[in-house]
Amino acid sequence: MKAVAVTPSQKKVGIVEHTAPAVNADDQVLIKSLEVGICGTDREICTFVYGAPPSGSDYLVLGHESLGEVVEVGGNVRNLKPGDLVVPSVRRPCQHEGCLPCRQGLQDFCSTGDFVERGINQVHGFMTETYTEEEQYLTYVPPELRDVAVLVEPLTIAEKGLAQAWAVQSRLPWVLHEENGKPTGKGLRAVVLGAGPIGILGAMKLKAEGFDTYVYSRSKAPNPKADIVESFGVKYISSLEHDVESLAKIVGSIDLVYEGIGVSSVAFDVLSVLGLNGVYIFTGIPAPRDPIPIEADQIMRNIVLKNQAIVGTVNADKAAFETAITDLGIFMERWPDALKAIITKRYPIEACRELLLDKATGIKNIISFEE
Ligand SMILES: NC(=O)c1ccc[n+]([C@@H]2O[C@H](COP(=O)([O-])OP(=O)(O)OC[C@H]3O[C@@H](n4cnc5c(N)ncnc54)[C@H](OP(=O)(O)O)[C@@H]3O)[C@@H](O)[C@H]2O)c1
Ligand SMILES: [Zn+2]
Ligand SMILES: [Zn+2]
Repeated sequence: MKAVAVTPSQKKVGIVEHTAPAVNADDQVLIKSLEVGICGTDREICTFVYGAPPSGSDYLVLGHESLGEVVEVGGNVRNLKPGDLVVPSVRRPCQHEGCLPCRQGLQDFCSTGDFVERGINQVHGFMTETYTEEEQYLTYVPPELRDVAVLVEPLTIAEKGLAQAWAVQSRLPWVLHEENGKPTGKGLRAVVLGAGPIGILGAMKLKAEGFDTYVYSRSKAPNPKADIVESFGVKYISSLEHDVESLAKIVGSIDLVYEGIGVSSVAFDVLSVLGLNGVYIFTGIPAPRDPIPIEADQIMRNIVLKNQAIVGTVNADKAAFETAITDLGIFMERWPDALKAIITKRYPIEACRELLLDKATGIKNIISFEE
């Protein structure tokens, strides 16, 4: 069957012939790929600076943002049946007995670094006609989310990020005022950096949680990303029109920043205007470059004198996948057009080289196995 792969030893990217897998353990599920999202990580792997094939294979099948349909289940699979829609997680635990996070199913916090990741590092990904996966790494998706569930994986970054922020802000009991047993952003101001898929989905999550939410990104409005953001009630501010001091004046005291640009100069500029007791969530992964000047004294003074907290977050756990699916259902009810508009275009697998190697266009492009 066909798969999209990188072959680092030959510096090749494209369609390869890949052996079709079969269920060969009781906890395994055979899945037909429906859609796979393409992101910056895939594009970076295609420049051969990152990513590794499984041992014994020349190539790595790409793809970590998958929506699939169950075709067959092993004898011990309890909660899935043929026809169900599922989304797989990405990271798989390391093998060290002493790695407490991995032994508890929290491999997103693996403490040895010897984890592997499907479609990224030492395990084939999902950009292939069928794949197998253990039931524990799959999350059920209700059929009404069929058109948007390929966005679950990028949304899990915001889900985990906000869960981390609430854990940190539990130090502020008056902020963590709960509604229906859950923390709420009501009365708080959030700034999202970037209006790519990570930023837009993060802004939807924060808006849905009740935050007064702003997106700070580059291009001047109107533009398609700003239009989507404004359509669900979030204010879009262009960095070409407003510097960070002006951003802080417009927003007022910033309680939370969700960084989704991966541009360290902008990220640290905005850190310098984080408010009192604020929390800053870094998600961006910039490529290493020459050192840049930052306002280190001011930032350090603020962190101390304003009781600020900074968290980095990568990957996501099962709980984040479950909340992402619940939240996609909420977004679908509240803002169906905005949510669907994040998906720019669906392409057949034959378009993989253009999607992975040419200049990025649109917001989220997808390979559809039904095109
Ligand atoms: N932590 C994790 O687990 C995780 C997972 C996935 C992704 N990420 C990271 O998340 C980041 C965002 O991903 P994405 O897929 O959403 O990226 P993307 O599609 O490239 O979007 C980046 C956004 O940032 C804006 N931007 C770029 N440079 C800027 C600047 N100098 N000033 C202001 N805005 C600027 C862009 O503006 P324009 O629209 O004007 O171009 C765009 O809206 C990346 O760094 C990625 O590595 C992290
Ligand atoms: Zn991705
Ligand atoms: Zn581990």
